[in-house]
Amino acid sequence: MRLTEATAQTPTGTAEKTELLPPLRARDAAGVAADVLLPVLAQGVIVRRPSAMSLAERTGWDRRGVERVRALRDRYGPGPLPLTVRGRSYALVLDPDDAERVLADTPEPFHPAAREKRGALAQFQPHGVLVSSGPQREQRRRFVEEVLETAQPLHGMADRFTSVVRQEAAELLAGADRSGQLVWDEFDAAWWRIVRRLVLGDAARDDTTLTAQLGTLRQAANWSLLSPRRRRLRSAFLARVRSYVARPQPGSLAERVAAVDAPAGTDRAGQIPHWLFAYDAAGMAAGRALALLATHPDEADRARAEALEGQPDTPRTLPYLRGCALESVRLWPTTPLILRESTEETSWEGGKLPAGCVLAVYTPYLHRAEPAAPYQDIFAPQQWTGETGRAARGNPALLPFSSGPAGCPGENLVLLTVSTLLAALLERHRYSLASHPQLRPAAPVPAALDHFALRFRVHPAGRGTDTD
Ligand code: HEM
Repeated sequence: MRLTEATAQTPTGTAEKTELLPPLRARDAAGVAADVLLPVLAQGVIVRRPSAMSLAERTGWDRRGVERVRALRDRYGPGPLPLTVRGRSYALVLDPDDAERVLADTPEPFHPAAREKRGALAQFQPHGVLVSSGPQREQRRRFVEEVLETAQPLHGMADRFTSVVRQEAAELLAGADRSGQLVWDEFDAAWWRIVRRLVLGDAARDDTTLTAQLGTLRQAANWSLLSPRRRRLRSAFLARVRSYVARPQPGSLAERVAAVDAPAGTDRAGQIPHWLFAYDAAGMAAGRALALLATHPDEADRARAEALEGQPDTPRTLPYLRGCALESVRLWPTTPLILRESTEETSWEGGKLPAGCVLAVYTPYLHRAEPAAPYQDIFAPQQWTGETGRAARGNPALLPFSSGPAGCPGENLVLLTVSTLLAALLERHRYSLASHPQLRPAAPVPAALDHFALRFRVHPAGRGTDTD
């Protein structure tokens, strides 16, 4: 590996040699900006933009990103690879062990509240744990883990959550039975009804104003520091969230928020906006998992068999369906760039990176290229179950929910919600994917799947197949 040598002055004035990791050549840095950073920004970091999603799918933009990074790895070695974008120092993390280190050594010296994230998330969650620092971060994280029951596969309110998901699935399917099809807008509307009921309670079921307010704030957040704060809208949105916590509905996360004690400064209700925002990603993952199942008959049979086992109305762990959800996020990561900002100079095998460098873990490369072998472009829910499940979970390249002290504290809740919904949808219905002809069992899973365009034909189980 090439090294550049720089000379720094110590406080005593003596010269000290520092070996900096060599920056990417200008042409390669421009390639990273064009094929890695630009598609992520264009598709929308905080809320997805339909036109850019469609463009990315049609042009294979995301595949180019993976190929670009693979070529860089061949040329420069495992990195991290430093580059400067608009005067800011970044380093692309390519090696799974380096990714593990960055995520494990969080928040010091790799802090999750990078300036880009603070700028974006302040639009709707100024006190969220992800953008917090110091003791406040610790106390907010503790509170969030307690309410979401991070370590539990089945949340203490899973009984109630299961029944909410199944009620909304039944209503969605009643519409699909009438029309013979299921389109994204209907799926998404049902998903948001589920999310509002789980997070805020039944009184919020039809509060589409709240979701619309959040949507507008998220659109502003897509521009990070470039967009002015929508202070009035933010106040109205946060007041609406707080009103649900002030009159907590039984069996909702808001009830837990109101009941769980936390030190002053935690801003308990102020953690909720992140949950609402992040549940949107889980809806995308659920829709895409259904698309995978609609096009992979063997996997659909296995998933349906699991859905039909046991008591559907009681909470179940549904490991295979959880594997389907995990595969959906592995194949199409909803956080393609996991960012950490270094709080001090850090040392790597090939040299050093300065303090204030943003380390970017590019998950599409780790999830689809050699580090994800042997499954890479194959839909393989079985890799997350049983003995192999331990291997997948232990593989530092596979980061659907990130990992370490700032890893997703909602993972189990997401897997519970998505697997319960998929089970309810599969029990008595079969699906064929009317959109996306490129999704086929024999072909590599495409690098992008525009969820806004998803359209299924729906058949009662027993008539038709999952691949008609
Ligand atoms: C498919 C759905 C989801 C995926 C793939 C996902 C993934 C992630 C990832 C990758 C991070 C790390 C972000 C970073 O470091 O920049 C994260 C953080 C977080 N997620 Fe999720 N998430 C999902 C849904 C949820 C839900 C539904 C909740 C809450 C109910 C949630 C709560 C959080 C919180 C609070 C953090 C910040 C943790 C911290 O900073 O300590 N997530 N999630």
